[in-house]
Amino acid sequence: MNTPLLNATGIALVTALALTACVYRGGPGESAPPASAVAAVADSAQGARLYAAECAGCHGVTAQGTANGQVPALAGQHRSVIIKQLHNYREGERWDARMESLMQEHRYSGEGQIEDVAAYLAGMRMAPAGGGPGGETEISARGASVFVHECASCHGPRGEGSETKVVPRLAGQQYMYLRRQLHDAIDGRRPNFPHDHIARLAPLDVDDIDGLAEYLSELAP
Ligand code: HEC
Ligand code: HEC
Repeated sequence: MNTPLLNATGIALVTALALTACVYRGGPGESAPPASAVAAVADSAQGARLYAAECAGCHGVTAQGTANGQVPALAGQHRSVIIKQLHNYREGERWDARMESLMQEHRYSGEGQIEDVAAYLAGMRMAPAGGGPGGETEISARGASVFVHECASCHGPRGEGSETKVVPRLAGQQYMYLRRQLHDAIDGRRPNFPHDHIARLAPLDVDDIDGLAEYLSELAP
C-alpha cells in the first residue's frame, strides 16, 4: 500500500481533504451538501469500478443491501444524500465501524471518488425490498397513515426523497435497516440526525415504527 505523504497523489488528496474541511462541516442538522460536490461532473463509469471493487462485497452487486438490517440498499439513493452520509462517516458524525474505517482510509479522502460512486449509485434501479418477515397488511396501513401525516412533507408522498433538499429516498429500503435507523435515531446512536427529526420520531411507538418500516420497504421507488 502507498504511504500517503510520499507521493504526489497522496499530497493532492491530503490537500483536497484539508480544503474540504474548510468549507464543509457536516454538523447535526445540516441540510446542504458541499457546493463543490453538487457542481462537480462525476464519472459514473469510474464509480462503477470503485463500487465493484470496494463496496459490492457488503452492499451487493445490485446495491440492494441485506435483509438482516445491517447493510442498506444504495441503488437509486440520491447523489447528495450518499455524498453527505459518506462525509459524515469520514468525519465521525455517523457511527458504524465498517463505514468509518473505510472512509477514513487514505484512498477515500478524494472528493472525486466519492462523487463518482454517488453518481453511479443514484443511476441504479432500486427494487422494493418487500416488507418484513410478517408482512401484515394491518401494520402496513398504520405505517402508511403515520407516513402521510408526519413524514411525507419532507420525504415525498411516495417516499422518494429529494436530491436538492438532501432528503433520503426511503421507498424500497430494507425493512430491518429502516427499523434499526429509526430506533438508533431515537436512542441517540445516529448523531448526524437533526434534533428536530429525532423529536418527530420520539413519540412513535413500536407498532408505528414497525408499520413505517413495513410500508416503506414495500413501496416501489
Ligand atoms: C464491510 C462492509 C461494507 C463495505 C465494504 C461498504 N459498506 Fe457502506 N455500509 C455498510 C453498513 C453496515 C452500513 C450501515 C451502517 C449504519 O448503520 O450506519 C453502510 C452504510 C452506507 C451508507 C449510508 C446509506 C444510508 O441510507 O444512509 C452509504 C452511503 C454507504 N454505506 C456507501 C458505501 C460505499 C460507497 C462503499 C464503497 C466505497 C461502501 N459503502 C462499502 C457496510 C459496508
Ligand atoms: C423536516 C423534514 C423531515 C421530516 C418531517 C421527516 N424526515 Fe426523515 N429525514 C430527513 C432528513 C433531512 C434526513 C437525513 C438525515 C441525515 O442527514 O442523516 C432524514 C433521514 C431519515 C431516515 C434515515 C434514512 C437512511 O437512509 O438512513 C429515516 C429512516 C427517516 N428519515 C424516516 C422518517 C420518518 C419515518 C418520518 C416521519 C415520522 C420522517 N423521517 C420525517 C427529513 C425529514
